[in-house]
Amino acid sequence: MAKRVVLAYSGGLDTSVMVRWLAERGFEVITYTADVGQGEELSDIPEKAKASGAVEAIVEDLREEFAREYCLPTLRSLALYEGRYPLTASLSRPLISKKLVEYAKKLSADYVAHGSTGKGNDQVRFELSVWALNPDIEVLAPVREWEFRSREDQVEYAKRQGIPVKVTKEKPYSIDRNLWGVSIECGPLEDPWEEPPEDAFQITTSPEKAPDDPEYVTVGFEEGVPVSLNGRRYERLSELIEDLNQIAGRHGIGRIDMVENRLVGIKSREVYEAPGATVLYEAYGDLLSLVTDRFTFHYFLTHVPHEYAKIVYEGLWFTPLRSALDAFTSKLAERVTGEVRLKLFKGKVSVVGRRSPNSLYVEDLATYSEKDAFDHTAGKHFTRVWGLPLKVLGRKFRSP
Ligand code: ARG
Repeated sequence: MAKRVVLAYSGGLDTSVMVRWLAERGFEVITYTADVGQGEELSDIPEKAKASGAVEAIVEDLREEFAREYCLPTLRSLALYEGRYPLTASLSRPLISKKLVEYAKKLSADYVAHGSTGKGNDQVRFELSVWALNPDIEVLAPVREWEFRSREDQVEYAKRQGIPVKVTKEKPYSIDRNLWGVSIECGPLEDPWEEPPEDAFQITTSPEKAPDDPEYVTVGFEEGVPVSLNGRRYERLSELIEDLNQIAGRHGIGRIDMVENRLVGIKSREVYEAPGATVLYEAYGDLLSLVTDRFTFHYFLTHVPHEYAKIVYEGLWFTPLRSALDAFTSKLAERVTGEVRLKLFKGKVSVVGRRSPNSLYVEDLATYSEKDAFDHTAGKHFTRVWGLPLKVLGRKFRSP
C-alpha cells in the first residue's frame, strides 16, 4: 500500500513543489488548506493541488473555530509575546495541526507534512501539536531536507515537472496572514535599523495617511465574548473581528515592529499588523479590570499574560497547563459583560469610556465631591498600619 501523507497546503510555490517532491518519493499526497481569514481566494486550490500531483485536496473554512477556540482564549489571557506580539501566526498552527491529525485518521494516512523551515517557530508548533494529539504519527518537513537552495531552484523544478506556478514579481517579504493579524518578515526588514517600507503593510493605513478625524467604536461584551460593534450584534465572532480589522486598520492601529526571541535561539525582526486584536485587547483589559477585584486582577496580571503568551509561542497549545489557565480566565470572563468605548486616531487606540452591570466602581467611594462616603479617619489608621514595617526599619537603621 502506498504511504499516505496529509500536507498543510497554502497553494504557494513551496507547498506546490512539495506535493510533487513527496509524490516522487512514493507518497500519496492529500493536501489540506484551511481558511483562517488569510483573505485569499481558495476556490482554485483543489485544481492547483491536483495539478501539482495531489490525489485529493481538502479546503475548509475554519474562521469561526479559529476565532472562538484560539483567538478568544488568548484575548482573555491578554497574552502578548514579549509584551507586544499578539501571537497571530502562532495561533493558527495548533488548529491546522489538529485538522491534519483528524484527516490523517479519517483517510488512513500515517504521515502529515508541513512547509516550515528548520530555523523558525512554526515547525515546533506543528510538530508538538501533532504529537500531542497523536504520538504515533510521523511528521515530514521537506523544507528541512530538500535540495532546493533558492526560489529560483524551486521555480525551475516546478517548470520541469509541469507544476503550475504563477511567476509573479517576487515580493521580498514572507507574509503570514489570518483574521487575528498579519506577520511580515524578510527582505528589507532583516535590517533592524531600517524603517519598514510602506509596501510591507497589508491591512493598515499608515498613521500619517489615516483620517484627520478620530473615529469612536463601542465594543460590547457578554461573559467575556465580544458580541457587538457600535450596537450591532454579531453571531459570528470571526465576522466581528474582520469588521474591526477594517475599522481600526484604516486608522493605522495595531502596527508592531519588534526584534523578538525565536524558540531556536535566533533574534528576529518582525513586523505585525493586528488592528482588530489591538482594539479588543485594550477593550477586554479595561473591562476586566472594571469588574474584577484587586486581589484577583493582580494575580491574573502577574501570572497569566506572559505565561500564556509563552505557551502559545512555544508550541504548547495542547497541554494541561494551557487548559488550566483557560479554566482560570474563563472563570474571570463570566463577569466581563458590558461596553467599552474607544477612540481611534492616527495609529493610536484609547479607551475613553466603559460600563458594566458588574462594575465594581463605586462613585460614592471614589468621588472627591460632597457625596464622598469614604471614612477618611480609616485612611489615617490604615496608613499607619501599612507603613509600620518602614517605621521599624527606620528606627533600627536610620535613626541618628
Ligand atoms: N515570528 C512569528 C511567530 O513565530 C511569525 C512567524 C510567521 N511566519 C511566516 N512565515 N512569516 O509566530
